[in-house]
Amino acid sequence: MNFIAFSVRDDERPYFEKWAQVNNVKVDLHSEEISEDNLDTIKGYDAVIGLQTGTYPLGLFAKMQEYGVKDLSIRNVGVDNIDLAAASQKGVTVTNVPAYSPNAIAEFAVTQLMQMLRQTRTYRRKFAEQDYRWAPYISKELRSMTVGVVGTGRIGRVFIQIVQGFGAKVVAFDPYRNPELEAAGLYVDSLEELFAKADAISLHMPATDQDKHIIGQEALAQMKDGVYLVNTARGSLIDTKALIAALKSGKVAGAALDTYEAETPIFNHDLRNQALTDETFKELISLDNALVTPHIAFYTETAVKNMVEIALDSAKSVLETGQASTIVNA
Ligand code: NAD
Ligand code: COI
Repeated sequence: MNFIAFSVRDDERPYFEKWAQVNNVKVDLHSEEISEDNLDTIKGYDAVIGLQTGTYPLGLFAKMQEYGVKDLSIRNVGVDNIDLAAASQKGVTVTNVPAYSPNAIAEFAVTQLMQMLRQTRTYRRKFAEQDYRWAPYISKELRSMTVGVVGTGRIGRVFIQIVQGFGAKVVAFDPYRNPELEAAGLYVDSLEELFAKADAISLHMPATDQDKHIIGQEALAQMKDGVYLVNTARGSLIDTKALIAALKSGKVAGAALDTYEAETPIFNHDLRNQALTDETFKELISLDNALVTPHIAFYTETAVKNMVEIALDSAKSVLETGQASTIVNA
């Protein structure tokens, strides 16, 4: 059995190497993403181990079929960038890592919400200017707020526990209700109801074509004046231009965004000394009340170890038995 892994960072290498040794499987590591240009390198392998936020190459599954590569195991949760139907059609099994550490993302979402409330970005800017005054950037406390959680899966549920620990009231929306949260009476019946009740909203749902720009002009208008938004889910859920207008008008008091709808050419790239060409992104990050991070909510030691090991375990299981609990296509 031999695997080829793409987008491998230095911090992942020790986990790959240890797993390969313990399991006696050859795993060749490549730092570049899988793309149209390097598709031929998968020839001779049994599985491809991937990790990327951008789209996987169009011809990937046809090539995998041609070369007899049976499995694509990704090291992350979201499968919105993969054509799962095409994979199934070409006889390729796809697995993800559904729970490498929901805490990593939930903790980060709470961190960013707290930073917005305490206006740390503004204070850091003022500090750099040697302006050490307090007023007028007074904060709210989380225990005085109602926090709306959209999506109560693995990450949403941890997020709820943490903000409840701070004393916040929670309202939640999910088409598939969790029995414990249901019993606790947290759910509202519609997104509109959540928008009307929440002082801060955190998104923890997957991205699909149907949910593109679910947070747009209309949704923003339904929210409370001065609402805070947190998006650690996927950039495509938010209409960035509509959000920028709402941040400028004060309708939205702050937005913490770990994902951005056109992030692929920007996030996790070294663009030092290069002019940014995405005008919307430039405008967004210029705003004091936008706290933008380059898709780092996942990035903890626990998460990275699990991402590598669970993806490799999944590939091995698929090849040996045709089964894995992490298969995401039919
Ligand atoms: P999950 O599958 O456990 O939970 C997602 C929940 O969203 C489910 O309960 C589902 O029923 C619900 N949902 C689906 N459509 C919905 C809708 N229209 N409205 C409300 N709820 C809806 O997934 P998870 O592990 O909690 O991850 C959530 C998302 O977080 C992932 O899909 C991924 O996009 C994102 N993510 C981001 C990072 C990061 O580093 N920023 C890391 C991991 C995951
Ligand atoms: C995910 O796991 O879905 C993420 O968003 C993390 C990222 C490294 C792709």
